[in-house]
Amino acid sequence: MPNIQIKTYQEYEEAYKRSIDDPEGFWSDIASTFTWRKKWNTTLEWNFEEPNIKWFKGGRLNITENCLDRHLKTRGNKLALIWEPNDPKERFVRYTYRELHEKVCQFANVLKKNGVKKGDRVCIYMPMIPELAFATLACARIGAIHSVIFAGFSAVAMSDRINDAQASIVLTSDGLNRGAKQIPVKRVVDEALEKCPSVNKVIVVERLGWAVNMVEGRDVWYHDEVQGVSKDCPAEEMDSEDMLFILYTSGSTGKPKGVVHTCGGYMVYAQYTFSNVFQVQENDIYWCTADIGWITGHTYLLYGPLLSGSTSLMFEGVPSYPDMGRFWQVVDKFGVNIFYTAPTAIRSLMGGDIDDVLSYSLDSLKVLGSVGEPINEEAWHWYHTHVGKERCPLVDTWWQTETGGIMISTIAGITPMKPSHAALPLPGIQPILVDTEGNEITENEVEGHLCMKFPWPGIIRTTYGDHERCRLSYFSTYKGLYFTGDGAKRDKDGLYRIIGRVDDVINVSGHRFGTAEIEDAINHNDHVVESAVVGYPHDVKGQGIYAFVICKEVPEREDYLRAEIIETVVEKIGKIAKPDKIQIVSGLPKTRSGKIMRRILRKVAEGDTSNLGDTSTLLDPDVVDEIKAGAL
Ligand code: PRX
Repeated sequence: MPNIQIKTYQEYEEAYKRSIDDPEGFWSDIASTFTWRKKWNTTLEWNFEEPNIKWFKGGRLNITENCLDRHLKTRGNKLALIWEPNDPKERFVRYTYRELHEKVCQFANVLKKNGVKKGDRVCIYMPMIPELAFATLACARIGAIHSVIFAGFSAVAMSDRINDAQASIVLTSDGLNRGAKQIPVKRVVDEALEKCPSVNKVIVVERLGWAVNMVEGRDVWYHDEVQGVSKDCPAEEMDSEDMLFILYTSGSTGKPKGVVHTCGGYMVYAQYTFSNVFQVQENDIYWCTADIGWITGHTYLLYGPLLSGSTSLMFEGVPSYPDMGRFWQVVDKFGVNIFYTAPTAIRSLMGGDIDDVLSYSLDSLKVLGSVGEPINEEAWHWYHTHVGKERCPLVDTWWQTETGGIMISTIAGITPMKPSHAALPLPGIQPILVDTEGNEITENEVEGHLCMKFPWPGIIRTTYGDHERCRLSYFSTYKGLYFTGDGAKRDKDGLYRIIGRVDDVINVSGHRFGTAEIEDAINHNDHVVESAVVGYPHDVKGQGIYAFVICKEVPEREDYLRAEIIETVVEKIGKIAKPDKIQIVSGLPKTRSGKIMRRILRKVAEGDTSNLGDTSTLLDPDVVDEIKAGAL
């Protein structure tokens, strides 16, 4: 492993200081530990006005040479990937670095054979099977831009994303396993593609052995295509700032946007943060439970571990199948040393029988991680005590799709750890808190909006096809700063605690949705005139979705209507965005200018209607009483 790992608190302080005093020298030294076909000319060029951010300009590389080829000499026979299926009775599969290299090259050759070229956008809609990892890396191998779409999204959500990226090909599977259920993935793809003229090829991986509809001239089976294909595929030489991937994520307005990451900076940042935060050692078995359809899966299941030459475990299943002990059974089965999951999973397991945890030894664990949403103190302590046996540092890692990698987090065993606190910024990261006017708050024991004042190599470069949207979303709220959309506190010791979103984004089980996006889906239902969606505290999901809905006429059966509205949301977005509560109302609290006062709705949804603040400016103050009375 290249020597970029901080070992002591003093080394952290030194690295942090240098990263501020001489960011270019700091990152340049780290970047030098990678394999470049040609070294960069300029380490950093940037302004946050446009924004224009370029790291390692002029550098030439391929990220897969760094993930795979460079390990072959020293780690060829080391395990790169362990795949554990949904059903514990099915056999797991292991791939050494040499085998993974071959699989990726073969997949890359299949893509080439099917007409995929450098710069093409490839949509990947696949379950958590090894081929998802091969496919993603195969795109990077040939310089195609991957856009992985989580396989729980609906056909409509998929077609929106495909059309935005103008993808020419879709990589998918016949179906998928999820706990006791089997889901027909290919059917969703077929439906999506009815509205996607840019797609002319579909490659289908067999997972369930189902007979699926194959469109003549468009659809091919992977197992047919791979016959006789070479296990060697030279890597395409890429520029540091060439696009590596697009990943769609929700913001406070409009449709999800395609966050763009580029080859050089993302690579450097993914490995630096992976190696440091988890303090990974050469023989560790590392398990990140995230799906590759989310940024956590991109950076910390796939790229970060492979760049580091580590062994990464990929799990097809869910924490509750066949029983609530499944995670811990897998930890014991493979001797997992580092375990990274989301608070929502911890909270759902806390609800089970404690024996589901205590029946496993969990002796192999050394470091635990949390990501995706604030981890409440109760869940933090349960995780630390029952899983980590109070022996393992628990790192609460704060970051975003847009940041590419972890930004604020305890470095396991090295920097301070405090329940529910992400704690200190990593070297190279310069967070600040600002008030609503954008003035920096410099003291401690304060709360404010979390911004970054200097770029890091993993920062978002643009939103695909619409650079202005990137500027407006992240760089225009506070001049000269990247605005995260999160509120945070800083305690007396300077440790950060992330409170949650301050914009109209809700975080359900660690998944982001814009309230506008869900409202838009609900409004597609024929009975609905208007809707307003807010988040509310939910025991397991972190936030639940509460929808206030105005209908054309008073429904005879509210339960039927609710079911129909849920169906509409499932169709437009997917099951993951199902409203938890739907209240039918005759009006919404609006100001005279027509703006919905969400503050009031949030209070109602939280069940706290004692003090709704000033409602005198509302167009129709009476509607508030009705909403309060009908609260669910
Ligand atoms: O609100 C923060 C929350 O998740 C948002 C980013 O979501 P996404 O882009 O989907 O990425 C999730 C995985 C990196 C942030 O704006 N968030 C993420 N991690 C934490 C968190 N909130 C509190 N604590 C965290 N550790």
